[in-house]
Amino acid sequence: MTDIDALLARMTWSEKLAQLQILWRPHPAEQEALAASGIGALFWPGGPERTNELQRIAMEQTRLGIPLLIGLDVVHGQFTIFPTPLAQAASFDLAVAEADARVSAAEARSCGVNWTFSPMVDVSRDPRWGRSVEGFGESPHLTSAFARAKVRAYQGRSLADPGTLAACAKHFVAAGAVEAGRDYNSTDVSRRRLREVHLPPFRAAVDAGAASVMTSLMSLNGTPMHANRWLISDILKAEYGFSGVVVSDADGTPQLVAHGTAATETDAVAASLGAGIDVVMGGPRLGRADGDALLGPGDVDPVRVDDAVRRVLRLKEALGLFDNPYTDPGAVRGPDADARTECRRAATRCVVLLRNEGALLPLAPSHRRILLTGPYAESCDHLGAWVQRFGLPAESLADALPRRFPEVEWTVLPGASFLDPSAEGIDDVRRSAPGHDLVIVAVGEPSDLSGEAASRSDLRLPGDQEALIEAVAATGVPFVVVVIAGRPLVVEDWIERAPSVLFTFHLGTEAPGALAEVIAGDAEPAGRLPMTIPRSAGQVPVYLEQENTGRPARTGGSLRGKTHDVQLEGPNNLDDDFTSKYLDLPLGPRFAFGHGSGYTSFALGEPACSAETVGIGALEAGATITVGLEVANTGARDGENVLLLYVHDPVASVAQPVRRLAGFHRVAVRSGERETVSFTLDGAALTLWDDDERAILEPGRIEVILTDGTSERSVSLELVRGAPGR
Ligand code: BGC
Repeated sequence: MTDIDALLARMTWSEKLAQLQILWRPHPAEQEALAASGIGALFWPGGPERTNELQRIAMEQTRLGIPLLIGLDVVHGQFTIFPTPLAQAASFDLAVAEADARVSAAEARSCGVNWTFSPMVDVSRDPRWGRSVEGFGESPHLTSAFARAKVRAYQGRSLADPGTLAACAKHFVAAGAVEAGRDYNSTDVSRRRLREVHLPPFRAAVDAGAASVMTSLMSLNGTPMHANRWLISDILKAEYGFSGVVVSDADGTPQLVAHGTAATETDAVAASLGAGIDVVMGGPRLGRADGDALLGPGDVDPVRVDDAVRRVLRLKEALGLFDNPYTDPGAVRGPDADARTECRRAATRCVVLLRNEGALLPLAPSHRRILLTGPYAESCDHLGAWVQRFGLPAESLADALPRRFPEVEWTVLPGASFLDPSAEGIDDVRRSAPGHDLVIVAVGEPSDLSGEAASRSDLRLPGDQEALIEAVAATGVPFVVVVIAGRPLVVEDWIERAPSVLFTFHLGTEAPGALAEVIAGDAEPAGRLPMTIPRSAGQVPVYLEQENTGRPARTGGSLRGKTHDVQLEGPNNLDDDFTSKYLDLPLGPRFAFGHGSGYTSFALGEPACSAETVGIGALEAGATITVGLEVANTGARDGENVLLLYVHDPVASVAQPVRRLAGFHRVAVRSGERETVSFTLDGAALTLWDDDERAILEPGRIEVILTDGTSERSVSLELVRGAPGR
């Protein structure tokens, strides 16, 4: 055990500041110089031997011999690349996230990484924001559950164990609320929305023991997050009791100058440390073990600096680095067959069946000649955003499908490229399709169109891909569309002509094989949308947990018949005038959060609630309510279903969402059999935040809605003051 206080007492001011920084440098000589100068953390230099060498320098060539934190963005895999986090969320299965985090930690730690900048737990309700793909979608409840699962699985029982990584919940906070979905743009979010929507996943990560939290590059309500004392020090550290490390985002601290809230980079560093940031990523050198410091004790409170250093040293101690910071280059893990098997299974669980009107899926064994077309026919770009250059590449659908269906005669034509117009390619497909009994059109976004700094204003398939789908539809040959993307895409212009559509966010190394299994019916596409698919970019943000408005619309907009005033078309507008809707769009999104079906059919039983009335005092004291219902598989195939539990408070002191997710279960049910699914509701699930930022339980009726996206059941619960229960 290292005595942290004794070590701190021996440190000079400059040695302390040196510990409060992480830098990335490409050249080995620079990395070594940084390690020798007592820096606290470095980005992974690219191999176990190099990492060992840097640790050796830190341990042996600095006065205090403090080991290094070695950080890297291991977001959905080090070597074996799992589905992107948004794809994982579509599984509604925490085991998928756990498998990713376990394999990632084993592979990355075995080669010297000890700190991952993951999970991203930003709630995102705007698919224009490219970073939506790095998080778990639009629901605070779903995001919180995945945040907990990932943190626990990365960190294991003890960070000192091999195969663990210190997790980092990011980007604190409300990064997904950037105006207009443009990355790095300002955010302006009410305190109530922060409490109800954006903060809960961070709270969940902290409660799960997350070792670190990263602040966002955005300004929030006028204060850049890198200088936001209220959120970092008062809420995260004081209110939530977070005792880990708060790290800035890359160069986020010096960027306070560009934000216009600091005059110099030195002022910016002082403001960040003062606000509660413990480790500065990038920026000017803070301190050198045997040299000058950027700031003096008059610029930043020495007590605050000591607190930050203590947090860093405690993390190093928890990781066991003081005892042994080295790894065995002969024992590097992955990629290996076991990891790939887990990855394949995870990937099959993330696929969403958007529609299957023609019941073309799973593919009937009778197909003899199939045309595979679209840019994803032969593309191997399946890994998705935030993958390092050493991620294990994927094959293509043109490799995987013929292997799964060897008896079929396959024709493969590109048809269209991802981005460029390709009239000739589409003509080839038009000519070739009639000679086949089925066409599979594999379309989507290449990985580069999502992720950091990859916002889009147009949410349709890029390039000529929609024209390709239209051309195939016009041939009259039955066809299936497979969409592979980094965000929810607008599918409005073609979806009605495509009877069977699989939709997935990038699935990683095993994507093609997993999709082949789903297309064949070896695996069930029981994923559900973790983010709403809008009808058009103009409808964004559109999400399930919206408030009702004072004038909710009953019917949708349309431009089809004359109206008396604005000369637009649409009988619906006459029937339902002056209500909250767009004149030129049907009501609601194209596919809401939770949408998705499968290859079999289910019937839901009547829900049973353990109590019809519950005392608020009892809930506050920890009482819970159980809601259960039976799910019967009424189809001819074994299958899986996803049950979602929503709550709605119809009369509250502040407007509540029309429904709020409070539980989910993915359940496997054999054909002809039934399973009972049960949910537990606690006080937190029924709590609302009032305008004074108080979390309260209010008396009155709560509707509890259970749905699998196809049918719905509901039950009422009465919250009362005093008895019963207390
Ligand atoms: C991103 C972070 C990431 C960091 C380090 C930044 O640009 O916003 O999410 O962890 O870089 O790579």
